[in-house]
Amino acid sequence: MKTEAAIELENTTALEDRYQLATYKKMPVVAERGEGVWLYASNGERYLDLYGGHAVAGTGHCHPHVVKALTEQAGKLLFYSNLVYSEARARAAQKLVAIAPPILTKAFFCNSGTEANENSMRMARMSTGRENIITFSGGFHGRTADSISATFLGKYREIGKPNVPGHLRAEFGDIDSVRALADDSVAAIMLEPIQSMGGVRMAGPKFYRALRELCDERGIILIYDEVQTGVGRIGDWFFAGSAAGDGVVPDVVTLAKALGSGVPVGACLVNEKVADNIKENDLGTTFGGGMMAMAAVTATLEAIERDGMLENVSNVEVYLRQRLKEIEQVRAIHGRGFLLGLEFADKAKPIHEGLLERRVITGTSSDLKVLRLLPPLCLRQDEVDLFIESLTAVFHSGPENQTS
Ligand SMILES: Cc1ncc(COP(=O)(O)O)c(C=O)c1O
Repeated sequence: MKTEAAIELENTTALEDRYQLATYKKMPVVAERGEGVWLYASNGERYLDLYGGHAVAGTGHCHPHVVKALTEQAGKLLFYSNLVYSEARARAAQKLVAIAPPILTKAFFCNSGTEANENSMRMARMSTGRENIITFSGGFHGRTADSISATFLGKYREIGKPNVPGHLRAEFGDIDSVRALADDSVAAIMLEPIQSMGGVRMAGPKFYRALRELCDERGIILIYDEVQTGVGRIGDWFFAGSAAGDGVVPDVVTLAKALGSGVPVGACLVNEKVADNIKENDLGTTFGGGMMAMAAVTATLEAIERDGMLENVSNVEVYLRQRLKEIEQVRAIHGRGFLLGLEFADKAKPIHEGLLERRVITGTSSDLKVLRLLPPLCLRQDEVDLFIESLTAVFHSGPENQTS
């Protein structure tokens, strides 16, 4: 006889499969609630979530400070647009600018990562009067028309056809390939400073410095797409200004994902040079800067600060890297902080599946040998131990099968 939980699982999955467009391959999990790094399914099982719902659960699932702020805001005002002032928006903008590198002084709020990138490209075109945008092989910037056209990864530009004109492709980490394209038609150079979906690829620190110098020399706007790397994920608030990126600060940083702890919100942080060229009505969005999103932003940043999550990321990263040395199948560890790519000799997908069977959620990437970890910033050492135990068990249950 089937248990009630099994029937419920079947009902939910059947309903979703019946009524939702099948654009994602889903895990057989009906998510019911979350707490910290744990995701609880409707059948009572709990999952160690090292993926955070696509890097969104930065503060962990349902951080009490965020939940409280949202509950309070929901009782006051759910939404009003940018036609009025709001304390929630004022506080969020102030807080975001306060934690950013000092030259990034103004915020524009929108609703997602792709929108943040579209708006940043538009600002660069408006600021320079030029049209072309240089992006990189292996970078991912979103799925709306301009962002997908800026994405030279796998089949994305194909999906996005007809592509928006004015997009040029350079090779990530190769400054000469950028120099060859960076003439006076170029408004911006945009990059994911760590290419996440592309397999957690980083360039050498010299590359970021060389990009900054090239942009200064040729009047080009430098944009960091920090939709994944931002909001504490690498153990610093942002890749911009961090030691990992040689202290380089771009003209624009785009954010989304973890910024609202699960409430959809995106943002562009810009310097004065860019801000001075943006006038009333140049950019806009109905929902950007709405009160619920703004309450989520402030509470998210406060929670990261109060719980010392940046220090936690740096400390636990060291421990995680140390423990991963015990697993001989891990050939290399890419990335920084809690944006890590574990490279195996063979395909990572069976390992991802083996971990899921052991109730550990991880991610794959477009590099088939790389398993991605994007856990909440509150992940602790004892939870790392559980992951290592599970990963070891995956290989013990038949390493050949698991990696073939
Ligand atoms: C680096 C990067 N930029 C942009 C995006 C697009 O963000 P969104 O899905 O919120 O539009 C993503 C999403 O995965 C991303 O990883």
